[in-house]
This record gives sequence, C-alpha cells and structure tokens, in this order.
Amino acid sequence: MGRLKNKIALITGAATGQGKEIAKLFAAEGATVILTDMNMAGKETAAEISNARGDVNFVQMDVSKLADWNKVADYIKDAYNNLDILVNNAGIPGRGSIEEVTEDEWQKVMDVDAKGVLFGMKSMLPFLKKSKQGSIVNNSSIWALVGTGSAASYHAAKGAVRMLTKTASIEFAPFGIRVNSIHPGLVRTPMTERLLEDPKESWRIGPIGRAAEPIEIAYAALFLASNESSYITGIDLPVDGGYTAR
Ligand SMILES: NC(=O)c1ccc[n+]([C@@H]2O[C@H](COP(=O)([O-])OP(=O)(O)OC[C@H]3O[C@@H](n4cnc5c(N)ncnc54)[C@H](O)[C@@H]3O)[C@@H](O)[C@H]2O)c1
Repeated sequence: MGRLKNKIALITGAATGQGKEIAKLFAAEGATVILTDMNMAGKETAAEISNARGDVNFVQMDVSKLADWNKVADYIKDAYNNLDILVNNAGIPGRGSIEEVTEDEWQKVMDVDAKGVLFGMKSMLPFLKKSKQGSIVNNSSIWALVGTGSAASYHAAKGAVRMLTKTASIEFAPFGIRVNSIHPGLVRTPMTERLLEDPKESWRIGPIGRAAEPIEIAYAALFLASNESSYITGIDLPVDGGYTAR
C-alpha cells in the first residue's frame, strides 16, 4: 500500500481489461486516478473503484483524436494542473496478414494503437514536466518483439509503440520523465475471450502454460510507474510467461 502515494495517474482504455485492473491497483496504492476510454462503461468502472478508494474520475475520449486529448488536458489543468503517471493502454486488435490487410484496417489500427500513444505523450508532456518524477508506461505487446505471419497492422503499430517509447525516453530524460513499454503475452481480457476458448490458439501461450491475468500486467505497470524503478528508462519489458524466451 502507498507505493503511488501523492501521485496523479492517467490511464487510457481503462473501462475494461488491463486498463481497469491497472486503475484499481494504482488507486489501491494511493494514487489519484483519471480513467479515460471511448466506452462510457468507464464511468461505472471509475465509480466502482472510487467507492473503495477515493479520488477516481472518468473522462470519455478517443485516443486517436487530438481534439479529445486537448479536452483531457483541459480537464487535468482545471482539476489538478499536474500529472505524474501516464499509462497509454488503450488498443484494438488488428486482423489480416500483409497479403490480406486492407488500407482501412491498417489505418484504423495505426491510428488507435500507435498514433494514440504519440498523442498521449505529446499532450500530457507539459503536465509530466511539472512532476519532475514523471513516468510513462506504454502498453505494447509481444507482437512488437516477434512476428507471427498474421495481424500485420497490429505488429507494425505495437512495434511503433516500442520505438516511440525508446526515443521518448531520451527526449524526456532531461525533464525527469522516464518512459518504458510493457509487452504482454496472452492476457485474459474481453479482447481475447474468443482466443482463450479456441484450442487452435494455444500456440499463443508461453512456457508458463497459461494466459496472464490482468493483475499480473498491472503489477509490472505499477513497478514502472512508481519511484521503485527510478533508474529504469527506455526498456521494453516482456510480461509474457516466457513466450519470447524461446
Ligand atoms: N489481451 C491481450 O492478450 C493483450 C496482449 C498484449 C497486449 N495487449 C494490449 O493491452 C492493451 C489493453 O487491452 P485489453 O487486453 O485490456 O483489451 P480490452 O479490449 O479489454 O481493453 C481495451 C480498452 O481500450 C478501449 N479503447 C479501444 N479503442 C479506443 C480508443 N480509440 N480510444 C479510447 N479507448 C479505446 C476499449 O474501449 C477498452 O476498454 C491494448 O493496447 C492491447 O493491444 C493485450
């Protein structure tokens, strides 16, 4: 308890899945938490967490829209005028190999999964600079580290997140802001419900032999968000049950 005491954290894609679990854990560790999501269910998620923990709020947004990030910046300016932690977690899956992928599919996935992270870092930078101990955690994927021969747009977008993270870690270091990416393997969330039920998809599971629970990703995000990781920046941390060890 208290690992994020006196910190203000913004988490995107926090209505469900990993984002929700990260928001719950950060609140339990003492942070003031702002959840964002395009799904209005985030409002109930925020209310559920705040009933137990206190200062938790929700702002609806689409991470791929700069105007929405400006709206979030206005909210933060009015409410706190500060931000210590940004978790760029919102994302969508991508379908189709290089041969199959359409331009529309490519654009949609790049807009949300890659551009959304760029916009997040760009728009929250003025607040994170004020923190002096800022931490950005970008939720990428093991599909930024290894290929599968499918989901071309997703591999490309998550790979972009990995390298945006590394270059941001260099650009933002003079401001005391650390930037790291996490790379989950298969996680039990609404995104993967169908995959988890299909035995043909078991190749997605690493040596540990099961999918991750969202809390196992949230603990990695907590470590990187907290001052415990004060000398760590620019890393790409797999949280994948050993998948990429092979
Ligand atoms: N589940 C997995 O196996 C897995 C593995 C590796 C990485 N990831 C990544 O983890 C992150 C979280 O995914 P999850 O598994 O919790 O899935 P999820 O579908 O439960 O959660 C994703 C959330 O992002 C929100 N979202 C989607 N598009 C948005 C947009 N344009 N603007 C704002 N919010 C938006 C959704 O409404 C949803 O609440 C994603 O970036 C995903 O790519 C997931």
